[in-house]
Amino acid sequence: MSVILGIDIGGSGIKGAPVDTRTGTLSAERHRIPTPEGAAPNDVTRVVKELVEHFGLPGPVGVTFPGIVQRGRTLSAANVHPDWIGLDADALFTQATGRSVHLINDADAAGLAEARFGAGADVLGTVMVLTFGTGIGSALIHNGVLVPNTELGHLWLRDRHAETWASDRARERDDLNWKQWSKRVSAYLQHVELLFSPDLFIIGGGVSKKADKWLPHLQVERSHIVPARLLNEAGIIGAAMMATGTLPELTAQLEAPAPPKPAPRKRRA
Ligand code: BGC
Repeated sequence: MSVILGIDIGGSGIKGAPVDTRTGTLSAERHRIPTPEGAAPNDVTRVVKELVEHFGLPGPVGVTFPGIVQRGRTLSAANVHPDWIGLDADALFTQATGRSVHLINDADAAGLAEARFGAGADVLGTVMVLTFGTGIGSALIHNGVLVPNTELGHLWLRDRHAETWASDRARERDDLNWKQWSKRVSAYLQHVELLFSPDLFIIGGGVSKKADKWLPHLQVERSHIVPARLLNEAGIIGAAMMATGTLPELTAQLEAPAPPKPAPRKRRA
């Protein structure tokens, strides 16, 4: 099955579209429903169900989530309702929709899509996709294989989580012009570069449409920097790619049992 429904849960809208996963293109127009106030799990589930019914496409469904997703569970909620923490969201959505639903972190989905079909297509080596919006999302891809849940928006920089200082929301909150914001982003990118030496940085999120405003001001030591190409479709496309079940690194994580917890250490007498 190559046409799969992808759904992207965002702060203001929940968007879905059928995706041709062989080409990374939408095979019908996107449908958007505003994110319910507070984005609590049950309210979001209702919207996901509505989108599944709207398209009526058979088969599995891929859904993005703006937090850590491991084995179908949502494990963090930096910018969403705290009730998501620890929830088996795959099971919740699967039960509500009657489809096999799989979640993936939003930046990981965007990263997969950009690396395969967008600004990173055919790039070998290490690609780091960073999305700048309410938070900062990250996806680390090496030779086409994703390392999920890197969460580099939470790197500790200038005595705080980097995303509270260098996200697009921070730009608006602190009323920064693009040059001032780019200075913060450069400091952040230089830190990420020091840790991962990416061959290519792909900058995504809402700001990717306005690359002429910030790209000329960004400075790193060695890596190339390009804006994302798939703009606001990247999450939908990546979610659908994940739901095909053909990405070994994610399939393994979805299906393999969790490794056993280490036995508690004996206290010394
Ligand atoms: C979350 C990430 C997410 C990013 C972008 C961060 O606050 O921790 O999981 O990818 O925001 O939405």
